[in-house]
Amino acid sequence: MLYDVIVIGTGIAGLRAALEAKKAGVSVAVLSKSNPFRSNSAVASGGINAALGNAEEDSPQAHAADTLKGGGGINGKKALHRLCTDGPDCIMELDNMGVPFDKDEHGNIAQRAFGGAGHKRTCHIADKTGAAIVQTLLAQCRSEHIEIIPNTQFLNIVTEKGRVAGITALKRSDSSVTAFACKALILAGGGFAGIYRGHTTNPQEASGDTLAAALRAGMRLRDMEFVQFHPTTLAKTGSLITEAARGEGGYLLNAQGERFVDELATRDVLSRAILAEIKAHGKVYLDLRHLDPELVDKKLPSVKKNALMAAGLDVHTELVPIQPGAHYTGGGILTYPDTSTDIKGIYACGENAANRVHGANRLGGNSLLEGVVFGRLAGKNAAAFALKQEFLPLDYQYVDREMRAIRFILDGENLFNINAMRKSLGDTLFLNVGIVRDKEGLIKALDYVHYLYNKSIGLHCVNKELSMNVELSAIIEFKNALLVAEALILSAQKRKESRGVHFRSDYPEADPKIGNDSIETTLKGSHYLKVDFAATGQPFFTRLLKQFNPH
Ligand code: FUM
Repeated sequence: MLYDVIVIGTGIAGLRAALEAKKAGVSVAVLSKSNPFRSNSAVASGGINAALGNAEEDSPQAHAADTLKGGGGINGKKALHRLCTDGPDCIMELDNMGVPFDKDEHGNIAQRAFGGAGHKRTCHIADKTGAAIVQTLLAQCRSEHIEIIPNTQFLNIVTEKGRVAGITALKRSDSSVTAFACKALILAGGGFAGIYRGHTTNPQEASGDTLAAALRAGMRLRDMEFVQFHPTTLAKTGSLITEAARGEGGYLLNAQGERFVDELATRDVLSRAILAEIKAHGKVYLDLRHLDPELVDKKLPSVKKNALMAAGLDVHTELVPIQPGAHYTGGGILTYPDTSTDIKGIYACGENAANRVHGANRLGGNSLLEGVVFGRLAGKNAAAFALKQEFLPLDYQYVDREMRAIRFILDGENLFNINAMRKSLGDTLFLNVGIVRDKEGLIKALDYVHYLYNKSIGLHCVNKELSMNVELSAIIEFKNALLVAEALILSAQKRKESRGVHFRSDYPEADPKIGNDSIETTLKGSHYLKVDFAATGQPFFTRLLKQFNPH
């Protein structure tokens, strides 16, 4: 199959990119691994920031200043400037497309308070903002006849002469491998916080498939250490309780029933404060009991419903136990402010892209904006690039080798329990590469990831069905997750300071000498690769890699 532009991912960044590329007159396909409403975009519910100045006086400069402060001062200045100056226009475009933003008494888009913001700047659709935007963008894509190819799991990038030639993907309907040729590729596959299984707001699909593929294609990842924890997830379930609950006036209470922190502090500060309370006294609660019931019903209906459905709690009369959960990954594919990457013809946007727009810590409401601003730019630039190129040949050997790797997973006799392994990876990362890190914990985590790596060779499908085999997808995802986890830990080891969401108890202060350093990981730089090369000569890692990356 041939498309001028292929987009990986159906979150806000991917859909917005597809629409912009299509506008330039090129053929566009969007690959979706699962349901678009399971994307992180759809989960981010509280709102999307832009300096519209509808609720209070505001400006893109003030938005940028807040974002820079929240980000520990290391945000990429060009990307930040674009985010804040293009923001208002991107919101008005969404409004014109039919996104049903809540309006104020003058008919303007309503804006609420969010953490780390000096002004009310967060536009919203009750507490369903991300899902409502995804819905509108999907409808727009359909009316523009953009092909959305469902149940298709992206596997690898194919390059020729230093530029993108296409991709390989698993058709989940029959477990076959297909090659798609393209002139330009947009990676918008989201973040990787799903690898913190059991401690995350993300679906398990958010395991870094695109990042692992980028590494295998020789691209650089950066800033992988900046994993943001959302302060308020429903205890024991991990489901997100939107920041809007605090933006609308909710309190955080400790086990003694006292407020202990400014509820609208940035997420890094809040998560550490909550963790400390939980360690000291066992519990922290969200309190909405003092809020007007009508306000809760109108502005926080999902919070109310989730607390009732998942924990049997009535937010009007009961406290809601909360805990932080891994939510957003600031690191990803090294991306320039114009959305281009290390490989010609490949663009990245949204959570997939590490363009430093958020620095060391993202403000709530800025990720959906990042998706629309940089999705639009990636779509425009990818289409312009595609219009100047010819298709490159795609050798069938790529499909053939990839198919052998899939057959290896499908056919062999399974030795281990994939679910237990995923959960233990999540527990290990949460414990040792979580809100607070130190040297010993990071060493333990790296050892454990290597141990899982060895075991993952023995993961095969128990269920040999070819149609919609969730086990097959899960094993592919898990192997990708291990590669991404290794890059995360190596980066966290290297940043010997505390900044934003990366807090090291053994280096508790920010170090201005290394603050701006960008920690990059490549497959070549993999500690595991080095160790294994040294140990065996014929490296296990390469064998493993060949199963995945036949190129
Ligand atoms: O709390 C929330 O609604 C999440 C928003 C975000 O991550 O930007």
